[in-house]
Amino acid sequence: MMSYAAGVLLLVVLSIASISDGRNIIKLPSEALEISGADEDSIGTRWAVLLAGSSGYWNYRHQADVCHAYQLLKKGGLKEENIVVFMYDDIAYDTENPRPGVLINNPHGADVYKGVPKDYVGDDVTVNNFLAVILGNRTALTGGSGKVVDSGPDDHIFIFYSDHGSPGVLGMPTRPYLYADDLIDALKKKHASGTYKHLVFYLEACESGSVFEGLLPEGMNIYATTASNAEESSWATYCPGDDLSPPPEYETCLGDLYSVAWMEDSDIHNLRTETLKQQYQLVKKRTSNDNSYYGSHVMQYGDLELSLEQLFLYMGSNPANDNFTFVDDNSLRPSSKAINQRDADLLHFWDKFLKAPEGSARKFEAQKQLAEAMAHRTHVDSSMKLIGKLLFGIEKGPEVLKTIRPAGKPLVDDWSCLKSLVRTFEQHCGSLSQYGIKHTRAIANICNAGIGRDQMAEAAAQACVSFPSNSWSSLHRGFNPNRKEATAIAHPAANYDEAKLAEESGAGAGDSMATELPTRAETVTATNNNATSEDLDPPPPSGEVANGNDRSLKSSPSTSQQLAEPGRGFSIRFQT
Ligand SMILES: *[C@@H]1O[C@H](CO)[C@@H](O)[C@H](O)[C@H]1NC(C)=O
Ligand SMILES: *[C@@H]1O[C@H](CO)[C@@H](O)[C@H](O)[C@H]1NC(C)=O
Ligand SMILES: *[C@@H]1O[C@H](CO)[C@@H](O)[C@H](O)[C@H]1NC(C)=O
Repeated sequence: MMSYAAGVLLLVVLSIASISDGRNIIKLPSEALEISGADEDSIGTRWAVLLAGSSGYWNYRHQADVCHAYQLLKKGGLKEENIVVFMYDDIAYDTENPRPGVLINNPHGADVYKGVPKDYVGDDVTVNNFLAVILGNRTALTGGSGKVVDSGPDDHIFIFYSDHGSPGVLGMPTRPYLYADDLIDALKKKHASGTYKHLVFYLEACESGSVFEGLLPEGMNIYATTASNAEESSWATYCPGDDLSPPPEYETCLGDLYSVAWMEDSDIHNLRTETLKQQYQLVKKRTSNDNSYYGSHVMQYGDLELSLEQLFLYMGSNPANDNFTFVDDNSLRPSSKAINQRDADLLHFWDKFLKAPEGSARKFEAQKQLAEAMAHRTHVDSSMKLIGKLLFGIEKGPEVLKTIRPAGKPLVDDWSCLKSLVRTFEQHCGSLSQYGIKHTRAIANICNAGIGRDQMAEAAAQACVSFPSNSWSSLHRGFNPNRKEATAIAHPAANYDEAKLAEESGAGAGDSMATELPTRAETVTATNNNATSEDLDPPPPSGEVANGNDRSLKSSPSTSQQLAEPGRGFSIRFQT
């Protein structure tokens, strides 16, 4: 209370000082650094691009994050015409949503969905549209509202993305997904076009550091922070079973740890006085959870000196918070639990399974969904491991796949190799899907070891004699499958559309890989092949983080029988 009052008093004195010396410079008590003032005319227009990269009810939180960000920026004074929103928009009216037409991003939160513009929804949420919007290139758009960042040299741009990711890759609800090199190229083009003053990028995704690590040059007037470093998961929060859990009727996580950390900070403070750096430090603290067994390392990249600027330049500031100056000790308490991004889908199916009445169709459905998701994980993990062994030998294989390059070095030297080998894997082994993309580091390492497409194709063909026919393995949509399509996906051969798939996989129409695909789809069998079963270690518990206190999802299915009985086969534990 004392420090708060003193802070306000000091600021009042400082603002008077800044007016009286005729210059627009304010010194903050905590920074004691000169930062340019908040003169509306001098900062040009504020633009924002918000993107939720997933679909499916179990990914509720990404669209909730993005809708929340929209409300925050709107209250901060940004104009709707300057905020471009990308979301699949399948959550608010999903039959699983207990409050139709409402999205919340906090257990006690108000609706964040109402009023959010639907600039790019459904299949218009694409890499191509995202990059075209950033570049302000209307002719490159397909579908959508046509809104783009039509910015000028004095403007400030804020980009917030929330979804699954993997080393070097960000998810999209459509194919293809976004590779780091294409994003960096677009940012370089934007910089070369001279159409912004400063650009700030907030990125929530697993391994999100890998998108900028060794890739984002300094000197482009871009400052980026990421939810995690280049080699760890990011985390969902407000999940069923948390201390701060959603209302019981929600069987899904409401937010992501890094995303709610910056937004709940911005929601309550006067952003004219809080700097990007202050927010970075606060968010870092909350997201790391004091380095407890879950949590991730928030990172910063690019021109770090931009972080001395006020948040106000990018997010505006809600006039209702004018008296709520940032002071270090009024930060929000960290939420005490979170769930690995990659396990949030399992958590949804598991919670649904637990709550459904005994013997009901709903219970059966949840059990099936859980079993399919687990079978897919096992298949992808074991196939990748086997490919490593086939390429590099039994002992060296796992080592090569796990290699992490030193900080400051990009994930891969040849991005076209990475893209090509991902396609080759999917052609033989089925879609990686939102869980399986975690293997992009392994595939990058295969490229870094000089393996080409032909060798990869040979190894993948040997490793993957068949693949599970469930929706997660679908060649049709694969990564981030849409639940509604699950039935259609069960018969990929019957629903296969060659031209569409060629386009989706990023391959040219004449690409021989793409035209081989129907044959693969026809050979899909219902169970995992036994060629790899010997090779099968239990999948890494919750991906990355595990210790005796792990309350996250642990999975150790070893046979399909166990898979069919989630209650026994999966030891999914919530220790509280
Ligand atoms: C805009 O996109 C179109 C279509 O992709 C492209 O041909 C054109 O060169 C782009 N314009 C600019 C200014 O980059
Ligand atoms: C901030 O405090 C001043 C002085 O107490 C008061 O007049 C003003 O209404 C407050 N502003 C807001 C938005 O609460
Ligand atoms: C898979 O298992 C079946 C039945 O146990 C066996 O006949 C077949 O040879 C096995 N296939 C391979 C590739 O090991």
